[in-house]
Amino acid sequence: MTPQPSETNATVSTAGVELHYGATPVLKGIDISLSEGKTLALLGPSGCGKTTLLRLVAGLLAPTKGSIAIAGCTVADAATGAFSPPEKRNLGMVFQDYALWPHMTVGGNVSFPLEMRGIARSEWESRTMRALERVSLGAYADRRPSDLSGGQQQRVAIARAIVAEPQLILFDEPLSNLDRELRENMVGELAELITTLGLTAIYVTHDHSEALTLADDVAVMRGGVIEQLASPDELIEKPATPEVADFLRLGGVAELEYRDEHWFFKGSGLALLRSVDGVDCAVRVLIPTGSITAGEILPGTLAATVLRSQFRGDGHLATVSLVGAETIELQVLSRAKLRPGEGIGLSIDPSQIRWFGNQVYSSKEENLEHA
Ligand SMILES: Nc1ncnc2c1ncn2[C@@H]1O[C@H](COP(=O)(O)OP(=O)(O)OP(=O)(O)O)[C@@H](O)[C@H]1O
Ligand SMILES: [Mg+2]
Repeated sequence: MTPQPSETNATVSTAGVELHYGATPVLKGIDISLSEGKTLALLGPSGCGKTTLLRLVAGLLAPTKGSIAIAGCTVADAATGAFSPPEKRNLGMVFQDYALWPHMTVGGNVSFPLEMRGIARSEWESRTMRALERVSLGAYADRRPSDLSGGQQQRVAIARAIVAEPQLILFDEPLSNLDRELRENMVGELAELITTLGLTAIYVTHDHSEALTLADDVAVMRGGVIEQLASPDELIEKPATPEVADFLRLGGVAELEYRDEHWFFKGSGLALLRSVDGVDCAVRVLIPTGSITAGEILPGTLAATVLRSQFRGDGHLATVSLVGAETIELQVLSRAKLRPGEGIGLSIDPSQIRWFGNQVYSSKEENLEHA
């Protein structure tokens, strides 16, 4: 079929996309919109539907409901049965395992998509070299993929994906096979490459730091739906739900209940705030890592016990539980190394607490003396 122009001019957009495997819905109500030259990350835990959504955009799956448009043309529409196959969508793909052919040279791997299109040899030779040079592998054309490092193999996969100069490139966890140090280096390199090449990209990952580093917008997914689609700054500043905050590891999520002019940690006698005009209800809050200062257990601090601690570059990130409300786990950044079982005192800046839901909350809260 011939793709028909759709209403939107975004490079990629989906409207009300659903995908069922048999009777099981795997994706529900997916609406994304990605502008030219931008990168959208699909971020979420295993099984939330990231790869399925990427496959729908690629044309490897057809939606059960809804429609998908690329560069203003409808490429799939469940209502009309319209569907363009992958080779008509002008896109490149990079997978987790790179999917390089071991029996071919690096150059052969990269030129393959062009050869398949019947492009003249002189043309595909020059385009292959140009693609390899763009990923700084111009000198490696005659090597076998097995003679390259993991990071170099990954760049070959990128060269192959861009050789036909697609309008869109799809990445599915392209760095997850690399060790941590290489992965951290490659994230920056990949971000630079995407910008330099002016690519429009969708990037699937379950790693929040990768998504926040690389993408202009991040769709946080959970159980087949998009919980929030926003820029990294907005996600960090205003996570829409406790689940988003938790998944981005912005701090500790706690449930509070209001009684006797105080917000208590739910099910405990431990009060976080005094507030004279709260309402009789329970709410969830995010207590950001940056809102907590750790120190000695002194009057006015909340006593906590260190559960575990990990070095993070700018200090030790400790997970602690509150004494008197042990189910509440908070994240604390400390200069000094904190040992499991150690007791510490926490001071929480109430102005940094983020309140979820439609609860009525006033700014008249006061810090409490937890003596
Ligand atoms: N061919 C299939 N038939 C039936 N169910 C499937 C099929 N492919 C995927 N699923 C299911 O769809 C859901 C989403 O899978 P998907 O591969 O999109 O998840 P994901 O977010 O990419 O996860 P991961 O991070 O582990 O790669 C999962 O529950 C999975 O079991
Ligand atoms: Mg996947």
